[in-house]
Amino acid sequence: MREKLEQILVKALEEVNVADTKETLEAARVKYLGKKGELTAILRGMGQLSAEERPIVGQVANEVRAKIEAAIEGAAERAEAHELENKLKKETIDVTMPGKKIVFGKKHPLTTVLDEVTDIFTGMGYSVAEGPEVELVHYNFDMLNAPKTHPSREPQDTFYIDDEIVLRTQTSPMQARIMEQTQPPIRIIAPGRVFRNDEVDATHSPMFHQIEGLVIDKGITMGDLKGTLEVFAKELYGEETSVRFRPSYFPFTEPSAEMDISCFKCGGKGCPMCKYEGWIEVLGCGMVHPNVLRNCGIDPEVYSGFAFGVGLERITLFRYKIDDMRLLFENDVRFLSQF
Ligand code: DAH
Repeated sequence: MREKLEQILVKALEEVNVADTKETLEAARVKYLGKKGELTAILRGMGQLSAEERPIVGQVANEVRAKIEAAIEGAAERAEAHELENKLKKETIDVTMPGKKIVFGKKHPLTTVLDEVTDIFTGMGYSVAEGPEVELVHYNFDMLNAPKTHPSREPQDTFYIDDEIVLRTQTSPMQARIMEQTQPPIRIIAPGRVFRNDEVDATHSPMFHQIEGLVIDKGITMGDLKGTLEVFAKELYGEETSVRFRPSYFPFTEPSAEMDISCFKCGGKGCPMCKYEGWIEVLGCGMVHPNVLRNCGIDPEVYSGFAFGVGLERITLFRYKIDDMRLLFENDVRFLSQF
């Protein structure tokens, strides 16, 4: 029996020593130490031994088991190191290979110009407000003093969701929303998308962006409006830019005006850019109508203010001398990445 045990030990150690993977080691462990293993079988047969022999053989068997276990443990460490080494060899990195090029994105020209406009106005103490694109008729028209018969209310011009809800046609409803919520002094700009039932062409799109401006305080005059918008035009288009105001009409302002800037291309002499007029129209503006102030719970005897609305696409096209608005929405990266 003792000899048998020693044979097992020798055989087991031989096998363990050549095993170089976890799998072959596990196979060896099962073969000798497992439930049906060779050593286990001997231990089972010990019942047949005499009372004197049993402890001696038992001791030897335990020693054999311990030696095999220790050998397997040592071999397992070697096998692991071996496997790691193989893996590292297989996964070598060729450091001379050219790297993957990272393509950096760029801001869309509309975003760049909106950021600039935002900087100009926040620099003058304005905050930025945002509001819903799906808007109540109440805010889009009624609160803004738009007569029930105003042509912009027609479904040919406006996308109606139902009788009371529209896709906002202008950012002006933000004037009413802000004035309802905030006590003067108010100084905000409200940029965002607006929607009109227009066919797509070089100067129209059913979706475009506006930036609304609103100032309400005691003693605000048309002089404040003109000074503010002149600063805006000069900062956006250059110090040499001059502005002019032409009378106009909007339901929510009285008086109302349109602001032109001197053509940045010809300086006012006349060229194709300004259609030989020397001036380019950039925004609508005016003094907030007393009815609108009253609708929002602000006393027109105490407060006054001005408002303006700028088309973001328009000022962006001028800014980069792009002649077709569709180019801004087609999202051809080759085109957009030039700006
Ligand atoms: N909401 C006007 C439009 O879409 C633009 C506008 C004009 C806004 C005058 C104003 C303003 O705030 O005072 O045509």
